[in-house]
Amino acid sequence: MAGMNLRLAFAIISGGCWSAFQHGYNTGVINAPQAVMSEWLHKEALSGTNLTISAKDDPKVTTVWSIVVAIYCVGGMIGGVITGAIADRFGRKGGLLLNNLLVFISVALQACSKMANSAEMLIVGRLVIGVNNGLNAGLAPLYLSEIAPVSIRGSIGTVYQLVITITILLSQVLGLESILGTTVGWPWLLAITTIPALLQCCTLPLCPESPKYLLLNRGAELHAQRALNWLRGDVAVHGEMEEMHQEAEKNKVSKKVTLRELFSNRSLRQPLLIAIVVMVAQQLSGINAVIFFSTDIFSSAGLSESQSQYATLGMGAMNVVMTVVSLLLVEKAGRKTLLLTGFSGMIVCSVGLCVANSYVTKYVWVSYLCIALVILFVVMFAVGPGSIPWFLVTELFNQASRPAASSVAVTVNWTANFIVGLSFLPLTHLLGSNTFIIFAVFQFLFILFIAFKVPETKNKTIEEITAMFRQQM
Ligand code: GLC
Repeated sequence: MAGMNLRLAFAIISGGCWSAFQHGYNTGVINAPQAVMSEWLHKEALSGTNLTISAKDDPKVTTVWSIVVAIYCVGGMIGGVITGAIADRFGRKGGLLLNNLLVFISVALQACSKMANSAEMLIVGRLVIGVNNGLNAGLAPLYLSEIAPVSIRGSIGTVYQLVITITILLSQVLGLESILGTTVGWPWLLAITTIPALLQCCTLPLCPESPKYLLLNRGAELHAQRALNWLRGDVAVHGEMEEMHQEAEKNKVSKKVTLRELFSNRSLRQPLLIAIVVMVAQQLSGINAVIFFSTDIFSSAGLSESQSQYATLGMGAMNVVMTVVSLLLVEKAGRKTLLLTGFSGMIVCSVGLCVANSYVTKYVWVSYLCIALVILFVVMFAVGPGSIPWFLVTELFNQASRPAASSVAVTVNWTANFIVGLSFLPLTHLLGSNTFIIFAVFQFLFILFIAFKVPETKNKTIEEITAMFRQQM
């Protein structure tokens, strides 16, 4: 890949991969051990539970479990809200490093909750790791996009989602009953995130801060030049420094943009709308309904419990493989084509699932079709809707407004994630698999929006992209 070198790869791993690890791993981790953890809540941590019924039928246990799940997204929203302020105050690298404090606090709370028999500690721990993940989802794509050469900015941005998919899968594998998904194992399962946090604390200090942040926010010309030299290796950085200077000239006129200005400035309206819609689209596509509840979905399509677990792992693996393909395609096919292809494929799968489901009791082969459609649904998501929103947002704004815009986008993403997570089960009770029709309608609307409103940003500098929006006005 032209433009890639060992140091840049090191910075991508240190700043991007360990952060995405937190995001993906914690998204998936409490899925598999739900039964053993509920058992612990039922018998030990909660008082006043009804021990004559099973944990999963006890309303007190299910309520506390829903809180454990939902509070994580609330944390993500909080992390999103403060992303902009942290990114400007401490820098991208500084913010990412500091964010590890939250991992250590959260692990202490979550892993010790069992010893202390405290559901409260588990809940607060999930909230804290949620804040960490929300911050990572803003800060890491900012850092990656600001250290990337233009020609591979999309591929480097996709690394964030790639690691999310790998670590969701990792958490599901480690959460199997034969590994750490046991009464004794689950605190360890939750404590594993200390490892990437420690790795980041050791490696990220060796990497430079984002050169754009150094020059455009701090005015530190020499440091910026050094950082860029470090990242580019043998390649001359003269052209890139020149580009940054041009942006710096403009930045003198337009000072750092606050959240309020972001919403009131007319020239930012179009990119802001796009950023918000692609984030909503990523979540309302229904992806997490499948990621969180796939085992249920497979069981109701006729698989046994253990078959369903393995089908879930297969699905996770396909998610990883397709994200790799998307990483390789994104600089050739472009962002827009991949988004449109992905969402179109998701519509076909959603509609197919609804139709197939009404025949599932009549023909055995239809249940296999349902399973194939669920997996294909995830594959189509991975083609573009999974990875592109994270970095597209950083491409649409200049240095002055990028952190505030990332803040808004990440908050919107976690809010939509929260809504889908909360409403999917009640909706399935009401509509069965027809719930996917709702997703199909959303997917259709998002396709229209993307086709008409989202510009192609492939191979364009940020200056060229923002100029495009100015011209449109
Ligand atoms: C994206 C979504 C996340 C989802 C994941 C699945 O990162 O933001 O919510 O779980 O994709 O691959």
